[in-house]
Amino acid sequence: MGNHLQKFQADGFLVLEGFNSVEACNDLMQRAEELANGFDYDGHPSVFQTSEQTRTSDDYFLDSGDKISYFFEKDAFDPSGNLKKDLFHSLNKIGHALHDLDPVFNAFSRSPQMKQLVADLELEKNLLIQSMMIFKHAKIGGVVDIHQDSTFLYTEPESCIGFWFALEDATQANGCLWAMPGGHQTPLRSWFKRKQGGGTEMVQLNPEPYSMEGMIPLEVKKGSCVVLHGLLPHYSLPNTSGKSRPAYAIHTINPNANYPDTNWLQRDLNGVRSF
Ligand code: FE2
Repeated sequence: MGNHLQKFQADGFLVLEGFNSVEACNDLMQRAEELANGFDYDGHPSVFQTSEQTRTSDDYFLDSGDKISYFFEKDAFDPSGNLKKDLFHSLNKIGHALHDLDPVFNAFSRSPQMKQLVADLELEKNLLIQSMMIFKHAKIGGVVDIHQDSTFLYTEPESCIGFWFALEDATQANGCLWAMPGGHQTPLRSWFKRKQGGGTEMVQLNPEPYSMEGMIPLEVKKGSCVVLHGLLPHYSLPNTSGKSRPAYAIHTINPNANYPDTNWLQRDLNGVRSF
């Protein structure tokens, strides 16, 4: 398995087909739908968008680090603020402690093959700091602007590693991931953090622009796992197709790295566990 580590270190990402069974993917999606249907929506949505100007920074978002919280697509509402579709198909994602609070998500996040993979990548001590069920529903799933995951899970030194699980086939038509091999060998551009006095801010750390040259689509089959280095710039386009592109993602950090208390995501670090 040493070739996994070498390939990951060279490219900044690693695609593993057939990592999870179709049944495991279906069970996770079913559990996500159950959770969503149990969401007691009060008419005050938290909308998830990736552009800096409009990023939600309300308390619901900032308090979601140790909870199961629900975030809407920006296009889910009509001009009078009512949902255009049913609640489930209006959601952008659920986050950010599914892996610790829900038994189905916990089992998926800490499966035998995950334990083997993190051992192969020498990441077995990493802590699962965040999880997200990303729906990217047909026709409504929005763009995710180019970013580095370490912007949102900043540590000193940088240590974020993400694991992205395709729960259906991800294609260019339904908004698969895009990344550039070797793109992780560039500096961290920005840090998304809590602002003194409330809200959040995007602090620029390095002015180097993102290069779009050499970006390739990571078209992967249902059941695939994509490992993503925290410095790898990546993005996905809107899902304009008739097929949803659900994915589950977990993010890990090195237990010896400093996790600032000004990071946007806060939770009791004593409760953050490994695999
Ligand atoms: Fe990301």
